[in-house]
Amino acid sequence: MQMNDYIELIDHKLDEFIPIEYPQTIFNSMKYTVTLPGKRLRPILCLETCRMLGGEVNDAIPTACAIEMLHAQTLIHDDLPCMDNDDYRRGKLTNHKIFGEAIAVLAGDALLTWAPQVIVKHSKNLEPSILIRILNEYFKFAGANGVIAGQVVDIESENNQDIEDKEKTLEYLHLHKTSDLFQLAMRSGAIIAGASDEKIEAVTEFAKTFGLAFQVADDILDEISTFEQMGKTLGKDKLEGKLTYVSLYGLEEAKCKLSCLFEKCHGIMEKQNLKSEIIVDMIKKIKKRAGI
Ligand code: IPE
Ligand code: IPE
Ligand code: MG
Ligand code: MG
Ligand code: MG
Repeated sequence: MQMNDYIELIDHKLDEFIPIEYPQTIFNSMKYTVTLPGKRLRPILCLETCRMLGGEVNDAIPTACAIEMLHAQTLIHDDLPCMDNDDYRRGKLTNHKIFGEAIAVLAGDALLTWAPQVIVKHSKNLEPSILIRILNEYFKFAGANGVIAGQVVDIESENNQDIEDKEKTLEYLHLHKTSDLFQLAMRSGAIIAGASDEKIEAVTEFAKTFGLAFQVADDILDEISTFEQMGKTLGKDKLEGKLTYVSLYGLEEAKCKLSCLFEKCHGIMEKQNLKSEIIVDMIKKIKKRAGI
């Protein structure tokens, strides 16, 4: 399958998995951010990992879509006035700008709890033991040791001169706020494929590095890209005093580090015999956008 085939499949299923029920406001709000055109990297990586490791792609579709719903939840909450206070996401007004803050908070909560139900309800082909492992991964990476940990440290690091080890703190927050969902995506794909523990570890290492690289690229793009390209307000990291790879190391060194991280990704793929043109293509596109 090509990248566009995956996107088409994911978009179709995302629409199907969120029907509009009563009270319509909450379903409209959930669906609004989920169905706006995102890059769908996490669900693609989930499906592609499953394929790469010999699994049946169709078996991973509910999980892949659930991870995209979880991602949308993190975006809705990340954009709230009490967090990053952003007005645009995916080229359109942010969820709270359309539905108001109260509904946006609830839409995030609703997606967080709807997504695992999608996995349970629609994964008819998965053995109960696999289902439990997937749900455990979901709750682990979505929770207080996962994305939330990263977001907390991100917020606490804003304009904070008292951090003892900024390098370590920055890596921690990027690994959690961003790498964790990539780990969730690829580990779930591997588990559904029935991969060995060794292969699961290999894709975990890849996802960790890829996720870190992805966030370093996002930090760079916040500095050098445009609204037209990214569909969100840029230049905000500097304005808000965020701890980023650009603020700590400067633009050029951040680009160098990004290059190294992607080299590491290729190294892991080669060493672990992970073959995917889609992933290679993904890396190429991100490098090009970040100007390396
Ligand atoms: C945005 O993720 C949040 C970050 C982790 C930087 P994406 O850049 O994948 O956003 P979409 O899904 O394409 O909108
Ligand atoms: C996003 O980090 C991380 C999550 C949403 C969990 P950012 O705050 O840098 O993402 P953007 O730049 O708003 O997309
Ligand atoms: Mg943020
Ligand atoms: Mg943000
Ligand atoms: Mg950003």
